[in-house]
Amino acid sequence: MKKIIITIDGWSSCGKSTLAKQLAMALQYVYIDSGAMYRAITLYFLRNMVDWTKEKQVHEALKNIELDFRPNEKSMETEIYLNGENVEYVIRDLIIAEKVSDVATIKAVRTFAVIQQRKMGEKKGIVMDGRDIGTVVFPKAELKIFMTADNAVRVERRFRELYSKNPNITIEEVKNNLEMRDYIDSHREVSPLKKAEDAVVLDNSNITPEQQLQIALDLVKQKL
Ligand code: DC
Repeated sequence: MKKIIITIDGWSSCGKSTLAKQLAMALQYVYIDSGAMYRAITLYFLRNMVDWTKEKQVHEALKNIELDFRPNEKSMETEIYLNGENVEYVIRDLIIAEKVSDVATIKAVRTFAVIQQRKMGEKKGIVMDGRDIGTVVFPKAELKIFMTADNAVRVERRFRELYSKNPNITIEEVKNNLEMRDYIDSHREVSPLKKAEDAVVLDNSNITPEQQLQIALDLVKQKL
């Protein structure tokens, strides 16, 4: 069967990765979480005290970063590795979330990530989620989805996710972080978050994950 590239872009915490994983599973495609790459780079910068306002330091640091995605043996979901270490879980911390949007504004960082993302799509049969996947990484993708959800719904979802790992977290902190990231992601100079002209908008505020998958699968069917 013909394989296509599916891109899913949208605001933070509106369910992009849930839909991307559902689609990859249903279609037997590879799922790539592009945000995990920016998070892993941020983790490296923080651990190695890289001052990312200094161009030279960023260039030097990027030379020492190797990212790859490997399937988890049990769930078969892809997980990100930074220089051979599985960092899939540490990169979800609020400490990383607070800095990642800043790091993702840096041109050299984006070029580094985009080259690798494009390589992963060479054989098609891929679902990639992020902010610039349909606009910059794969502008010719066969199916582009732009996801959105009500702010309150997004804050609640993200809070529940983070609270299970850290009960000290407050809803205010989560709300502020989401607002800040959305602002930086959509106002940066290089590859800001925006809907590709040919993307289909999917608002999942009031639908179940099963309904959202069905809508997306119908879109895939039309494209095939
Ligand atoms: O999807 P996420 O929340 O894990 O992404 C983390 C950050 O990375 C997000 O604030 C913006 C940035 N990002 C980006 O700039 N471009 C992408 N393609 C994916 C993520």
